[in-house]
Amino acid sequence: MNGLLEGLHAAQQGLRAGLHALGLAPEVHGQPAWPLDHRIAAEMLVVDAGHARRVLWSLACGGVALLVLVVSLPWRRARGPLWALAVALLVCAPWPQAHLLLAPAVPTSLHQSPTGFGATGMVRGQAVYQQHCVRCHGADGRGEGPDAPQLAQWPPNLNGALLWKRLDGELFWRVREGLHNRAGVLTMPGTGDALLDAQIWEVLDYLQAHAAGQMLRESGTWDRPVRLPGMAVSCRQGRARQARDLVGQRVRVAVAGQGAPWVADDPRWVTLVVGALPAGADAECQPQGGSDALAAAEQALALVLGVPVAQLPGYQLIVDRGGWLRARGQPGKAAWSEDDLVCRSTTTPAPVDGAAATSITTTPADGLQALIRRMDAEPVRLLRGGFPH
Ligand code: HEC
Repeated sequence: MNGLLEGLHAAQQGLRAGLHALGLAPEVHGQPAWPLDHRIAAEMLVVDAGHARRVLWSLACGGVALLVLVVSLPWRRARGPLWALAVALLVCAPWPQAHLLLAPAVPTSLHQSPTGFGATGMVRGQAVYQQHCVRCHGADGRGEGPDAPQLAQWPPNLNGALLWKRLDGELFWRVREGLHNRAGVLTMPGTGDALLDAQIWEVLDYLQAHAAGQMLRESGTWDRPVRLPGMAVSCRQGRARQARDLVGQRVRVAVAGQGAPWVADDPRWVTLVVGALPAGADAECQPQGGSDALAAAEQALALVLGVPVAQLPGYQLIVDRGGWLRARGQPGKAAWSEDDLVCRSTTTPAPVDGAAATSITTTPADGLQALIRRMDAEPVRLLRGGFPH
């Protein structure tokens, strides 16, 4: 299934790149446009297993039919029966329904956000939200802003999984161009040229970070994967200059400050300490930049954790090798356990061998070990609009 999604994604991106090279897909908003009215509806493949199976079988039948045709070319005597076989394969394939296969597309459907989920942009996005969106969507993003009751339609709650279900580029388009209901009535006005492209991407990052924090506050989990916000870092060893350079390694993020215990380096992960370090202390990695950048790093963590900045000291986060935030340690908590894994994979957990399993429950120090083992055994994947991201 994942292979199918990746293949379709690559095919679609490849088609766009090919059309762009031929001059048929000019750039819009900084990236090549998707010039067709429809795109592959990957989201349907994710939610409807029967449909996904039909697509796979049809692709297989089509592939075999093609192979049979190729074989028949030099093999003149068998050509008749082989062609009949190819036709039979195509007729008998369980072709999926077209309306499940394709979804309406916009020119920016395949655009990818260029922000890297960066902390400073996210904070700028928050300001944009306050200025342009809050009157309808409300300070908490639940859709209960002061202007909401007068609208043709109530704004949706942006704190659930909604944003994760959409493609980045389609959210961008909706915010810029606006939304209409089935009757053609404008339900949300687009920002048009009032916002720069970068500002729209940034406000979307803010919304996603905020939604992640609210999700964690309400359900105690991140149902959808959340990335470590991007920030400039400086590390004692190595050449990492950005948080994303640490992808591939496990990272433990600790927020220093009043009352937070000092987190020592540990060979199992890279330690990134955010916030004011105690005098004389030296962290393996720290955010870098002016006071704005440092404040943005804290604000971004506060957003994804769903807590005010003042309550941050003492929080810890564990980031897996894919750059996803996986576990949260709350201030004042003595030891880690598997319950701290707040972003879990939907795949079945890999069996843990007996010896290891007993050691998990015995000493608190092993709680973290068990958590890491489980995190590594169950990687998460982000699907946006059904496509791997
Ligand atoms: C005049 C009120 C209003 C303003 C201002 C407004 N929105 Fe909306 N927004 C709505 C309504 C109503 C909907 C639901 C429309 C629908 O589904 O047809 C919506 C839907 C959305 C959605 C969900 C789109 C989807 O894919 O379902 C997003 C995201 C969003 N708005 C973001 C923003 C952002 C970002 C801003 C500020 C730049 C903004 N909105 C400003 C009223 C507003």
